[in-house]
Amino acid sequence: MIATRTYDLTAGDRFLRLERFHPDFSTTVKLEGLNPAGSIKLKAAREMIEAAEAQGAVAPGRHLIESTSGNLGVALASICAAKGYPVTLVTDPNANARSVRFMRALGARVVTVTDRDSAGGYLRTRIAYIRRRLAADPSLVWLNQYANPANATAHSRHTVAEILDGFGVPDWLFVGTGTSGTLMGCVRRLRELGLPTQVVAVDAVGSITFGDVPGPRWIPGIGASRVPELFHDDGSFLKVLVDEVDTVRMCRRVAREHGLLLGGSSGSALAAVHALRDRIPPGSRVLALSPDMGEGYLDTVYSDEWVTERFGPAVLDAPTTTVNHLIGI
Ligand SMILES: Cc1ncc(COP(=O)(O)O)c(C=O)c1O
Repeated sequence: MIATRTYDLTAGDRFLRLERFHPDFSTTVKLEGLNPAGSIKLKAAREMIEAAEAQGAVAPGRHLIESTSGNLGVALASICAAKGYPVTLVTDPNANARSVRFMRALGARVVTVTDRDSAGGYLRTRIAYIRRRLAADPSLVWLNQYANPANATAHSRHTVAEILDGFGVPDWLFVGTGTSGTLMGCVRRLRELGLPTQVVAVDAVGSITFGDVPGPRWIPGIGASRVPELFHDDGSFLKVLVDEVDTVRMCRRVAREHGLLLGGSSGSALAAVHALRDRIPPGSRVLALSPDMGEGYLDTVYSDEWVTERFGPAVLDAPTTTVNHLIGI
């Protein structure tokens, strides 16, 4: 394929089966991080901008603003650079330093809020900052990924089609939940097509989306300190909360056993596969979405010092994940 727009290179056709992940069923990851913006959010950013353009809300010269834990910001910065839209990205200290540098290199303005909100995260602080900016300058355009239906449409339109083309119908599909755009889009399309895939929504302990008690979290991408407007639990998917310590263990295990450096939320999805291993029937074809790769996590998830400081030295030697929280199962 010869593309003429960077944001058409979404590279949604990369699948890797992890041999020996479990002896009784096959486990494959869909690698969404192998595109010019480095994550699955390139699809969401493109869909949201194109929907806003179609509605006349975004046009050359209009300044965009958005809250991001990192990946959406890089994707928006890339598309806005290509289209000539100025963009301000509001992020927090959990964002990878590399993502922030990436956004700036693409010409975006980056604002980092530093006060934790009442739920222990930063999301409400980021949103409050955006609301103040919108009040002061109503010409700013806020895409609001947490409530924007186009975020989910990116996945109902593209991600599910990529899965069916490149992998076939999964028996089980594990999806990390941040804005829940990926989850909602995949669930909607799979149900529209009448496919029997068991979807498992994966979130972090301390995120409130599934009703857990709020708590501090360190790994960007999944988790929210306020329930995203897009999230709707129709009872058709399972929900699993993964402790960040298990996310870290799983990322490090996959790196050492499979030679694959994945981002944090990919480790969460695979930790959830591990947690449900006794419920997955032998012979099943399991697919886990991997939203980004691990280079941006070398100073966190893959740093012995960072891990020891937050989770204690025992995590470094732990062979596999142990603790997981299954909700309503
Ligand atoms: C690394 C990573 N994983 C998972 C997600 C969750 O995706 P969604 O916002 O579609 O729920 C994101 C979203 O930013 C992410 O950056």
